[in-house]
Amino acid sequence: METMSNSIRVQRTSQSRLKEIDFSNLAFGQHIADHMIVAEYADGKWGEASVLPYGEMTMSPAILSLHYGQAIFEGMKAYKTSSGVITIFRLKRHHERMNRSLERMCMPPIPYNLFEQSLTTLIDVDRDWIPTSEGASLYIRPVVFASEARLGVKVSDQYKFVIMTSPVGPYYSKPLRVKVEETYVRAAEGGAGFAKCAGNYGVSFYPTQMARKEGFDQVLWTDAKEHKYIDEAGTMNVMFVIDGKLVTPRLTTAILDGITRDSILTLAKEMDIVVEERKVSVEELIETHKQGSLTEAFGAGTAAIVAPIATINIHGKDYTLPPTSEGSIQARVKKKLTNMRLGLEKDNHEWNFTLR
Ligand code: COI
Repeated sequence: METMSNSIRVQRTSQSRLKEIDFSNLAFGQHIADHMIVAEYADGKWGEASVLPYGEMTMSPAILSLHYGQAIFEGMKAYKTSSGVITIFRLKRHHERMNRSLERMCMPPIPYNLFEQSLTTLIDVDRDWIPTSEGASLYIRPVVFASEARLGVKVSDQYKFVIMTSPVGPYYSKPLRVKVEETYVRAAEGGAGFAKCAGNYGVSFYPTQMARKEGFDQVLWTDAKEHKYIDEAGTMNVMFVIDGKLVTPRLTTAILDGITRDSILTLAKEMDIVVEERKVSVEELIETHKQGSLTEAFGAGTAAIVAPIATINIHGKDYTLPPTSEGSIQARVKKKLTNMRLGLEKDNHEWNFTLR
């Protein structure tokens, strides 16, 4: 059946897969909901978006994104609040970041109305896919990629904008063992590390696989020049508690401008936690661990939310942190963020975009 919502054509699937999903056991990204948004860019403008049944798309193997990497994405979440209202977390901020990524990759910006209408229509159509169990949400994955079929090295003149959603549980199920990476580099200053482009993830795979073989869950990336300062963790930003202060690497062009990072820093300041955004050196982690003033480390990201770090391996030596307690800074900020998203606490910043 085909209907119109705003200016968006909605073609519903005749075979919903919803009943096949075990909502009590949601591995991250395993199930993709029934529908997707598709819009196309050609002749210098974005066309109208459609909601289509989620499924395969036919494309030429010559599309430029496959060869030259013009592909960016976002990661967002939708929740059902305690009163049953559907919200999307920080929609505007994600739209802004997406357009910054697009600009860096010479790709056309997505107009705000196209973004908002596409998202709200899709979430409304697949509203029954939003899980309500503790720690679960509907993960939203907008992606834009060059779709012009041409082998010459050039900026594409055609693009596709697709949004998929996936009911998800926690990304990491246990405290992490991470390794400070001192050989490989995720991004250098002046590169595209701040953008959510596909290549940033592709280059991370090889060193991360090597670290996995050594028994680590993730790597902590360091600066490309000296491997002296902590950047981020690839799947999330990283934060430390040193001397009771919440400390995180200040943003550079090599670090993703994480929206969970920003949310946590904002909430922490309001909770009278001292926040420092500054360079964090590998040596400082060793020293403060020795003194006992490094008491917490955790990742912060849309998928990861707040992911405790149990062990940091530096120069081949394990530095273990105390187990996370309810009174820890990471547990307190996570609770505040979760409660606000679920409507259990006031949303002072209007971060929850409510579906009408
Ligand atoms: C996100 O947190 O949304 C990301 O894109 C990171 C990825 C590990 C899923």
